Amino acid sequence: MISAIILAGGSGSRMKNSLPKQLLPLAGKLVLHHSVEFFLKATFVHEVIVVLAQEYRIHCPYPKVVFAEPGLRRQDSLANGFTKLSSGSSYILVHDAARPLMRFEDVQALVEEGKKVGAATLAVPATSTMREADLQGIVTRTPRRDSIWEIQTPQFLTRELLEKGLNKAQLEAIEVTDDVGLAELLDHKIQLVKGSASNFKITMEGDLERAAKLLQ
Ligand code: C5P
Repeated sequence: MISAIILAGGSGSRMKNSLPKQLLPLAGKLVLHHSVEFFLKATFVHEVIVVLAQEYRIHCPYPKVVFAEPGLRRQDSLANGFTKLSSGSSYILVHDAARPLMRFEDVQALVEEGKKVGAATLAVPATSTMREADLQGIVTRTPRRDSIWEIQTPQFLTRELLEKGLNKAQLEAIEVTDDVGLAELLDHKIQLVKGSASNFKITMEGDLERAAKLLQ
């Protein structure tokens, strides 16, 4: 059984809006609704858990959705979502509510590859050169561009990897910025699955307009 955990517990401070970005309007509904409806429609997904603050749940009126409380950090929200999984669930898709433009074929490919490896994520090859720099802005490393991928969600993990990774992160006070990072903590292989550039995260002013145009 596959469960989807949609993370919608962030405050969206980068957009200077009173509502978090996942609750802003986009093409006739809210940003969050796009991913909730995507997973409710996907026949290979058996349950949908949405991590969303109590005060906002009125904006997510889907009877089949199970809610979880947000945590302080993204990974705390994920840990709270994890506690809501039903016992029969063996694979998890974790998704940022702020990415409303998933493509069905991409997520299907992710699940297929994820089942083989145990941990997988959608990603797109970097289109710009990426450099690492120190706090003074001095370049410390320039990785080969063809080895660099920009990571997206959904991310796929077996229940076992997710549980062990969350436990390890908690016990050793390690912060991860994405979900397959938990598999990495356990030295487990992670498969990148090529996704689409349209699956970008609504982050800055202007991103909503860009998403609305793509949905037209
Ligand atoms: O802040 P950022 O854009 O990285 O957040 C990615 C996703 O994680 C968003 O959909 C946000 O709502 C969610 N999140 C969360 N709980 C937090 C922080 C972020 O569910 N404490």
